[in-house]
Amino acid sequence: MVDILKEKGMPIEKQIRCWHDIVKRPYKREGVDCYTRTRQILLNGIETEAWGFKHCWVRKSDDVELNKLLVNIRRIEDMQQTTINWLSPYKQTILDTTLGYEQVAVDLTAWLSQNEDDPYVKETFDFGLLEDFDHLYRYSQFANIIEETDPNEILQGQTDVVIGRPTQYHHNDNSLRIRKHYDKNTATPRTKVNILTLISGEQQTHNYYAEHGFMYGNTDLKRLYAEICDVEEEHVTMYESLIDPNETMFEKWLIHELTEASCYYNCYADEKDERMKLIFEEMFQMEMGHLHQAIKMFEKYEKKDAASVIGDKIIHPCHFESQKEYVKKVLNNEVNKRVDADGTYNTVDKLPSDWKSYKVQNEVSKSGAPSEQAINLAIESFERDIALADNSLLKSQSKLLEKSLEKEAVAPNTICVEEYEQFNAIKNDNYLY
Ligand SMILES: [Fe+2]
Ligand SMILES: [Fe+2]
Ligand SMILES: [Fe+2]
Ligand SMILES: [Fe+2]
Repeated sequence: MVDILKEKGMPIEKQIRCWHDIVKRPYKREGVDCYTRTRQILLNGIETEAWGFKHCWVRKSDDVELNKLLVNIRRIEDMQQTTINWLSPYKQTILDTTLGYEQVAVDLTAWLSQNEDDPYVKETFDFGLLEDFDHLYRYSQFANIIEETDPNEILQGQTDVVIGRPTQYHHNDNSLRIRKHYDKNTATPRTKVNILTLISGEQQTHNYYAEHGFMYGNTDLKRLYAEICDVEEEHVTMYESLIDPNETMFEKWLIHELTEASCYYNCYADEKDERMKLIFEEMFQMEMGHLHQAIKMFEKYEKKDAASVIGDKIIHPCHFESQKEYVKKVLNNEVNKRVDADGTYNTVDKLPSDWKSYKVQNEVSKSGAPSEQAINLAIESFERDIALADNSLLKSQSKLLEKSLEKEAVAPNTICVEEYEQFNAIKNDNYLY
């Protein structure tokens, strides 16, 4: 077990690398393990968050000594981000990568939820999980329609592709998007790191969709990216509102570096590909160097023990494995869940007729929901949706939809329960290979 307070890692002055070392050979689209890809996607998001955080801080800091250190370390974060992000192969399409992003969201959130100390945070993770699960299903239709990709070329059978909480219901009234925050004095280091890990992944997903959705010539697909991009914005909003706003910047810095170090350590420990494993190990040593600096500055400026904020152990926020059973359980129990006032949750059947989100949902989907259009187009092309799961889950699609449909807000192009029932009579194998 790594003692994070004693382990000093790589000194900062040794962390500037040459361009040949920064830009490494990517993994191969064919043959890469899907969970090597998910690790690489998540770590890229972790680096982007680490870089952005230090920019925000320096913009409002007048402490020259501190700023020099932050400017130095954020340059290293930026170089790390280039290394990690550019491990993606040129031949991996935007939709391929998109399926990878949603696989991260589903399997990472499921892991975090089962390893979370705070019951309210866990409930919020489970809530978000079902939305990303539905995104995976919607994007899978387009991956097949536009690029003839069997989603399992990317997902490798580890993550199911069926309807979740329909995406048209992910758009909430602004007043409902903020959750209750933890108390920094009682929250465990694991809760703090779990939340920051997920925010980093969701923020990266948002940015990826915002920057790539327009790169397809198909307007329906662009609209789907726009719709889901808005949901990822909501996910960042929801998860970041779980953080205690009373944390000082020095406390936040400790949590950031611990999150980075922990994620790299988990990825290093789990990774089977020797070349990737070495990269993760080197990055872990660099992060321990950053963490050591953060501890030194925290103790100097706040004159407190860093262990009171981050404990003394590495956390396990990013283990990837198939989570089909867990996701199925949450899906069956919570597909009809909705967010209500003051960060509480409710179910569709108990929502008041003046529930605030009806208004925004009716507004954004008034000309049709792109996420429903994805299924309409799949029917046009293949007579049914593309869905990948065991038979019992496939057959439950119509029931899941029935349970989740809202009374007051239904997009005009919504695929109905009866059509989902018909899908099961049509085999989808022919369209996948
Ligand atoms: Fe980093
Ligand atoms: Fe998503
Ligand atoms: Fe998300
Ligand atoms: Fe760092």
